[in-house]
Amino acid sequence: VRYTLRPATWAEFDFLFELRVQTMKEYVEATWGWDQADQLMRFKLHFDPRQVQIIELDGRDVGELGQEAWPSHLYLNSLYILPAYQRRGLGTAILQEMQRQATAAGLPIRLQVLRVNPARRLYERLGFVVTRETTSHYEMEWTGAGEG
Ligand SMILES: CC(C)(COP(=O)(O)OP(=O)(O)OC[C@H]1O[C@@H](n2cnc3c(N)ncnc32)[C@H](O)[C@@H]1OP(=O)(O)O)[C@@H](O)C(=O)NCCC(=O)NCCS
Repeated sequence: VRYTLRPATWAEFDFLFELRVQTMKEYVEATWGWDQADQLMRFKLHFDPRQVQIIELDGRDVGELGQEAWPSHLYLNSLYILPAYQRRGLGTAILQEMQRQATAAGLPIRLQVLRVNPARRLYERLGFVVTRETTSHYEMEWTGAGEG
C-alpha cells in the first residue's frame, strides 16, 4: 500500500472531527455513550494539528496518524482511517513503518485501545501484547523482534 503523510493544519479541523466521528463513534458509544456536542467540545479542547499527520492515498485524504516520541518509547496517539479505506492493509503498512522506526531508535511502541475495538486483533497480529487493562481500555506494547 503506497501512502504519504503530511503535517495537518487548522484547515483540517472539520475533516479530522468528521474522521473521528466516522471511525470512533461506534466504540466510544459502546464504552461511555456519545453526545455529539460534548464530543465536539472535547475535540476542540484537545485539538493540536502539530500532533497529527494526514494520511493520503492516491491523492485523497483518508485518515490521520498521531505519533509521539518519548525518551522511553514511541507512543501511537491516533490512527484513524475512513471506513471506505479500511481493511486493505493500510493500517498494517503504517504500523510496520512505525515498528521500523522504533527498532532503529531502540525503543518500544505503546498504545491504548478501547476494549470494544476490534483493532486489538490487528495490534496482536503485529506482535503487540497487552500490558495493563482498565475498565475501558487495553494498554499494549511492542518491544521489537527478538526481544521481550
Ligand atoms: C484500526 C485501523 C486503523 C486499521 O487500519 P486498516 O487499514 O483497516 O488495517 P488493515 O487493513 O491493515 O488490517 C485490518 C485489521 O484490523 C482489525 N480490524 C480493524 N477494524 C475492524 C473492524 N471494524 N472489524 C473487524 N476487524 C477490524 C482486524 O484484525 C483486521 O484484519 P482483517 O481485515 O484481516 O480481519 C482502521 O481499521 C481504523 O481506522 N479503524 C477505526 C479507528 C480505530 O479503531 N483506530 C484505532 C484506535 S486504537
